[in-house]
Amino acid sequence: MNTPVISATGLWTPPNSISNEELVHSYNVWADNWNRERAADISAGLIEPKTHSSVEFIQKASGIKSRFVIDKAGILDPDIMAPRIAERPNDRISVLAEIAVNAARDALERSGRKAEDVDAVICAASNMQRAYPAMAVEVQDALGCGGFAFDMNVACSSATFGIQTAADFIRSGSAKSVLVVNPEICSGHLNFTDRDSHFIFGDVATAILVEEESIAPVGHWKILGTKLKTQFSNNIRNNFGFLNRAAPEGIDAPDKLFVQEGRKVFKEVVPMVANMIASQMEELDIKPESLRRMWLHQANANMNRLISSKVLGREATEDESPTVLDTYANTSSAGSIIAFHKNSGDFKHGQRGLICSFGAGYSAGTVFVEKAA
Ligand code: COA
Repeated sequence: MNTPVISATGLWTPPNSISNEELVHSYNVWADNWNRERAADISAGLIEPKTHSSVEFIQKASGIKSRFVIDKAGILDPDIMAPRIAERPNDRISVLAEIAVNAARDALERSGRKAEDVDAVICAASNMQRAYPAMAVEVQDALGCGGFAFDMNVACSSATFGIQTAADFIRSGSAKSVLVVNPEICSGHLNFTDRDSHFIFGDVATAILVEEESIAPVGHWKILGTKLKTQFSNNIRNNFGFLNRAAPEGIDAPDKLFVQEGRKVFKEVVPMVANMIASQMEELDIKPESLRRMWLHQANANMNRLISSKVLGREATEDESPTVLDTYANTSSAGSIIAFHKNSGDFKHGQRGLICSFGAGYSAGTVFVEKAA
């Protein structure tokens, strides 16, 4: 059987960053305006006024300090409270494909691989820009890759599900060089008027090149094992879809954007993921002391602290479980890949680590890797 490895990763970060202070300021102006416009109903006790968001709460509850976004002005404008990204004609590359291509070029360059030698492209992300043609086929065309391409969506776990899918193609001989891209314009589906979640997400794109070991560059990453899990939950949900027009009364309702029961997600996902990691470590005979680093999904710093201490039996250091959500926020499927991309250059031959993602579905994926010579 062919052996899949990770040859390289790539990252594209938007140029604009929004601090918690900026985000909270525009939310609070929006809330004050909302209350003023409904002052009569509020004083008659018919509706509750909106309360202010807080920088301190956001940092303490999530660990997020800022986020990168494609459009800063629209998000911060209290009269808009959403990104403004102009529609493009069909003869121009779409914005989601464009950011995926940026990250893909970075991965291809790092691995020394020519685009024409890639024989499959998977666009694994939370929210595709359109139904079809697949974003992945557009990326394949823009880069000049061969073979086949398709989209897959497993929400925040899309990248690890994409890695296992790519690895299985390589094992079976369907492909030799598979590019997995994770373009995430999360600001497009975040409700910036929802105090409970307006701070959660950021935009980014990552790419992972999964290849057959014999063609991989020096310093690639062996894949020791992958595991995927899903378990149905309504606690993270987005009901946007093509059937919305068949029920026009629901169009633009809050559930057509991201909604979650954050507390429940926290409580249910932490044990699910910690148990999954522990049981796969047992299967692969990896002891906690021989796991050099965990690149965990970047949703919540407290969640990651709990998961890593359950796995290690003690609190992990920042070096053992690096954080990128402080500056990127939750970037859905891309989070654990950003953490890996930015914090793996110091690995020596034989050192082992874990890429792990989790999120809506629920879904979770683990990829244990080892640095090759
Ligand atoms: N500013 C100030 N206060 C806020 C606030 C804000 N922006 N948002 C919520 N609060 C208040 C709530 O109203 C609540 O007040 P109350 O106690 O008077 O009712 C209090 O803070 C606690 O709210 P809660 O929602 O229980 O906070 P939390 O500690 O659970 O943190 C999350 C919220 C979202 C950060 C946290 O639950 C989380 O990250 N969960 C996991 C999310 C996740 O991984 N999702 C996956 C997405 S793909």
